[in-house]
Amino acid sequence: MLFKKPHRKHRQPHLRICLLFTGQNPLYCNHPDKYAIIKSRRRRMVADTKQASYVHLTIDQGWKNYTPDHHESWNMLYDRQMGILEPRACPEYLQAVQDLGFTADKIPDFHEVNERLRAFTGWEVVATEGLIKAKPFFDMLADRKFPSGYFIRDKNQLDYLEEPDIFHDLFGHIPLLTNQAYANYMYEYGKGGARALEYKTTKNLARLNWWTIEFGLIQKPDGLKLYGAGLCSSYGEAQYCLDDPSAHHIKFDLERCMRTKVYINDFQPCYFVIDSFEDLFEQAVNTDFSPMYKSFKGMEGIEQATEYLPFDLVPQDNVIRKGTQEYIDPKREFLEDSISI
Ligand SMILES: [Fe+2]
Repeated sequence: MLFKKPHRKHRQPHLRICLLFTGQNPLYCNHPDKYAIIKSRRRRMVADTKQASYVHLTIDQGWKNYTPDHHESWNMLYDRQMGILEPRACPEYLQAVQDLGFTADKIPDFHEVNERLRAFTGWEVVATEGLIKAKPFFDMLADRKFPSGYFIRDKNQLDYLEEPDIFHDLFGHIPLLTNQAYANYMYEYGKGGARALEYKTTKNLARLNWWTIEFGLIQKPDGLKLYGAGLCSSYGEAQYCLDDPSAHHIKFDLERCMRTKVYINDFQPCYFVIDSFEDLFEQAVNTDFSPMYKSFKGMEGIEQATEYLPFDLVPQDNVIRKGTQEYIDPKREFLEDSISI
């Protein structure tokens, strides 16, 4: 174990879509103050999103409202993270941070970011408040819009997050949306949401999100690199996933990811490695999801597919590195109990 995990109530980052299913956000759980909270936030009722448009969920970033303390938080997070990403993140990500004009001195203005981002792939980042349910989340992606929190964590609690903040969402997610193949994958992911909703298999799609968009690794000529937003924006896990020998590295397989359970409150016991963003997109767009979804649900006489725990290798895995699991083993029982989706 090379890295001591900092003490914190929640590890960063919390995955937007995963929280939809864990019920940790009061807006989407049985919190006794659910309606008061909604009212106090002056949000429109989105509990039933079938008729709701995501437009109602978007807000102005309010860039002028950031205080010097907010910019200082960004500065500290940016400098600390870039210091460890240079040798670890994929070159497409690092180039994009420059191309989008991110700097340490101030929180980026979404209007300025979007001018640059649109020119690359037509995507935009839009500010939202709170967490978003599955349907509007999928609809946003299918409209090439990525929802981002606008607030930033306190500079005295750099590793503490209750919800994804602007550092996770903007710094972690947005740079690779300049890459056409990755952007196309995100678009297909959003479009695929409708079928997952139809089959009630959004948890499987959320797992795919987790193992690729949030915690994916990519094979490069000089070794494995980070591309997942949860890794690129996390100081501890960006180092742990590559430098610590604990975690398994497994070649990406779309169905394997969708069948592999997830917990959100600690470093991962395995990471899936793609060959390229083009290959990731090709696998997504060339997969017929309906038969898989039927097997996940055991529909139409099809035997229900086995689900996997994230700790264990399975016989069909193409294993790039068998991890020692030294970091995970002492707390495996606890982590099994905290499986979220
Ligand atoms: Fe995220």
